[in-house]
Amino acid sequence: MANLSSIHILFFVFITSGIAVSATVFTLQNNCPYTVWPGTLAGRGSKLADGGFELAPGASRQFSAPAGWSGRFWARTGCNFDSSGKGRCDTGDCGGLRCNGGGVPPVSLAEFTLVGDGGKDFYDVSLVDGYNVKLGIRPSGGSGDCRYAGCAADLNAACPNELKVMGPQNNVVACKSPCAAFGNSEYCCTGAFSTPQTCPPTNYSRIFKQACPDAYSYAYDDETSTFTCTGVKGNSCGVST
Ligand SMILES: *[C@@H]1O[C@H](CO)[C@@H](O)[C@H](O)[C@H]1NC(C)=O
Repeated sequence: MANLSSIHILFFVFITSGIAVSATVFTLQNNCPYTVWPGTLAGRGSKLADGGFELAPGASRQFSAPAGWSGRFWARTGCNFDSSGKGRCDTGDCGGLRCNGGGVPPVSLAEFTLVGDGGKDFYDVSLVDGYNVKLGIRPSGGSGDCRYAGCAADLNAACPNELKVMGPQNNVVACKSPCAAFGNSEYCCTGAFSTPQTCPPTNYSRIFKQACPDAYSYAYDDETSTFTCTGVKGNSCGVST
């Protein structure tokens, strides 16, 4: 469990689903002290929440996804959009307020595969494409290993110099993945390193893993980073914010 003080400054995704209805309700909550613009991308199923929206500090927004949906959410920062939704962001940019594709890395990702109907839903927080903001997933209710997944650490502060992405105010706004920064097969798990057996953790992935043990630090991170939860129902875990 993340301690309560860290929850104030996370961009949070809560998942809840009813037993009777085979839909999962996502609650995206901005506990950062600044505005974020969540982006959504469906891998399977329809686009959720128009692909993206603005979320003020302390605000939350709920929307539901049908059983079988898979996809990801991320938080964009430093965005400027005009009234028609045109514009760009310092991190996680997707070309406009309403995304039609993924966000530009580095970006922390919340990833979901919803089975529903009594099956296990899978979720994880991934830093495989780098890091921009703290991100957590907290399932509400349900049975099985319904644990918190996420990264409550400030990896921008812990980011090695060679991975830092600077923003317009000359502050660190994101931390690149070593694969994006250097492109070596060792860091990207490609070529001779393309299997879990041949792509062990690296000095860089260890920095990510140490800061965020409950998140994927690289492509073949061990299975401690994916969580499952069955029949998520109501608020029986007493999640409060
Ligand atoms: C990681 O290892 C590489 C290759 O040995 C080295 O060049 C780099 O400085 C190391 N980085 C860190 C953060 O330890």
